[in-house]
This record gives sequence, structure tokens and C-alpha cells, in this order.
Amino acid sequence: MSEARWYDLGPVEDLARRPLQQIAVGRTKTALSWKDGQFGAVSGACNHVGGPLGEGKLEGDYVVCPWHHWKFHCRTGEGEPGFEDDRVPSYEVRERNGRLYVNLEPAARRNKKPHAHHPLDRPVERAPGPVRVLGLSTTVMDPAYPRYSTSEALLETALEGAAREHGAETKCIRLSHLKFRPCEGYYSKSAHACTWPCSITQMDPTDELEEVYEGLVHWADAVLVSTPIRWGSASSLYYKMVERMNCVQNQVTLRNRILLRNKVAAFIITGGQDNVQAVAGQMMGFFAEVGCVFPQFPYIAHSRGWTAEDMERNVAFVQGSQALHEAARELAGRAVDMAKILLATAYEPEHIARAGRKGCQGTAPESPAMMAAGVEEG
Ligand code: FES
Repeated sequence: MSEARWYDLGPVEDLARRPLQQIAVGRTKTALSWKDGQFGAVSGACNHVGGPLGEGKLEGDYVVCPWHHWKFHCRTGEGEPGFEDDRVPSYEVRERNGRLYVNLEPAARRNKKPHAHHPLDRPVERAPGPVRVLGLSTTVMDPAYPRYSTSEALLETALEGAAREHGAETKCIRLSHLKFRPCEGYYSKSAHACTWPCSITQMDPTDELEEVYEGLVHWADAVLVSTPIRWGSASSLYYKMVERMNCVQNQVTLRNRILLRNKVAAFIITGGQDNVQAVAGQMMGFFAEVGCVFPQFPYIAHSRGWTAEDMERNVAFVQGSQALHEAARELAGRAVDMAKILLATAYEPEHIARAGRKGCQGTAPESPAMMAAGVEEG
């Protein structure tokens, strides 16, 4: 039996003012609770990825982690019913002469029940086969009553060209056919709360963005993204997807882990009104951030200008323009050629130094969970 290590946490009267608080004693963080006239102390580091339990909230007798809402009993550290074996360390507490003491020699130690890995959480290994091109159509429409989309039509032409003229395997994902939640800002709680696979994807089996992650990270060599111009920007679905891809970029900044390696991105942008270059610039900026490279002339676009409100003519123009459809096929060809070059060279940088960005020093921490929480294992 290890020896007790008692520490004075402070006056009982002060500590009993808050139902739950995170208290650090040296490098050990504890979640101290006060409920029904009783103190409880358990580790302040969640079993999942180290969320600060003491900064969560009490629900009945359970501390709810502020990051992804795992629950642990506020006095025993056991997981919620059904997950009792998944426990965080618990600590004995004692009141003496109006002061509260905690024994940092754990009464019960941490136990992590193995959780099934999410299917996306596997090494990124390119399976043999021809160049693979993923099309992502981001236009918003009602799939039950589809309309003609100029950006999607050109994407279809590009994919057809990639397959027929370049022997590529192709796949098209229409975001308007997927039900997925917007990013809920885990990154804003803590960079380490934003996980790969995405926290939402792991927690919500009904969320369908998994198909995009699977296609981009594990399948494609090249991605062609199409968007209409909406008020001078890419479509709202494009941004909804991109926000959810913060988890991909975050792996680079936090762990030097590059999920999109040697992949090509190219873009198709159409609009009845203008702002093509700004939309292209934003899209290229994002896909560069997640690690993609671009072929020469990485986007094609069509716009009839700011005063063109007669949208029917715009549709008729794109439907009838051989030149535009030829440009889409050529874009696909450039993307495939670039993907072949990358596949042949398989460039693999060891470190991506991004000093000054999100606190990354270009090294992968041994244990992000513990580093985030700054605690010792109990
Ligand atoms: S639930 Fe606690 S870190 Fe995810």
C-alpha cells in the first residue's frame, strides 16, 4: 500500500461555494465537487482525450466532461452506468479544523476501457490501383426536386473526362445529399478537444460527413471541388464542410500528422454574378492549409458579370458551351497528371514547421491527452 500524500486545499467554507472546480496540486489536477454536503475528488483529466473534468458540470452524481461529455462519478471516478470500468482516479478527502485535505495517492486508479476504434481512425495507406479522383459538389439544392446546377454539371463533365480520357477511377459526392451537423467549435474549447476523426463523427452515427472524410483522406489522389458563387463567396455547404475539416488541419498543427499527403486539389466555380478570383483564392487557401497541391491553372470558372440577373441565360450558356465543358475535362486531366507525378515521387516531409500558428512547435507530443491536461497518470 502506497503512503498517503495529504495536501491542504484550503478553507472548507470557500471550497464549498462551487459545485465543481478544477484544482491543481503540483502537476496533479483534480475535479473537486461539493454535492449534498459532501466533497468528492477525482482526477481532473478525462479518460477520453484529457478534457478538464473540473471545468465541466455536475449532472446528478456525475461530472460531465466539458469537451465531449463523457461522465464520471464525482466521488468514485467510475464511468456512467454501463461504463463503470472506464474510471478516472479518485482521491480521499478529509475535513480538519475548517480546512479540506486531499490524499493524492489515488484511492482507485485510472482504468481505460478499450473503445472500438472509429473506422476512419486507421493508417492512411494508398491501396494499389489507378489514379482516383473525387468530385465534391457543394451546391445547395433539394435532392427531391433537383435543378440544373452549372457547377455540378461541369464537375460531372470533368469526372467523366478523368475516367474516359485518363483511366482514372472516379467518385462524386453531392453534399446536398448528405445530412451532417455544422462544426460545433470543439477547437474553440481547446485545440486538443478537436479530434481526428472529427468529434461529431465519432459521437453521432447518423452524421454523414464520414463519406467525405473517407473519400478525401483514405481514397482520393485528387479532389475536384465545385461551387456556385453566392453573394461573392463559395456556397454555404462548402463552408459547412470546410469548418468540419478543421480536424484534418488540426492534426498537422497539433501532432505533425499529415492526413492529406500528396493529394491534388482543383476547383470549378460558376456564378451568374462575379467574384471568381476571390472565391478561388479562398478555396485554394483552405486546401493548401490541409496539405493539397495544385496543378498549373488550378481552377476553371464562368461568370457573366455583376449585372447578369437573367439566370436562365446563364444555365443555357453553360449547357451549350463546348468550350467550358472542354475546360472542365482539361482541368481534370491536369489534376490527374499532377496526381501521377506526386504518386511517383511520394514526397514525405518529416516535420511541418508552422511556427507561430496555433502554438505548434512542429513536434508530436507523446501523449496529447496528458499534455493538454498537464496531469500525472493516477
Ligand atoms: S469527453 Fe472528455 S475529453 Fe472527450
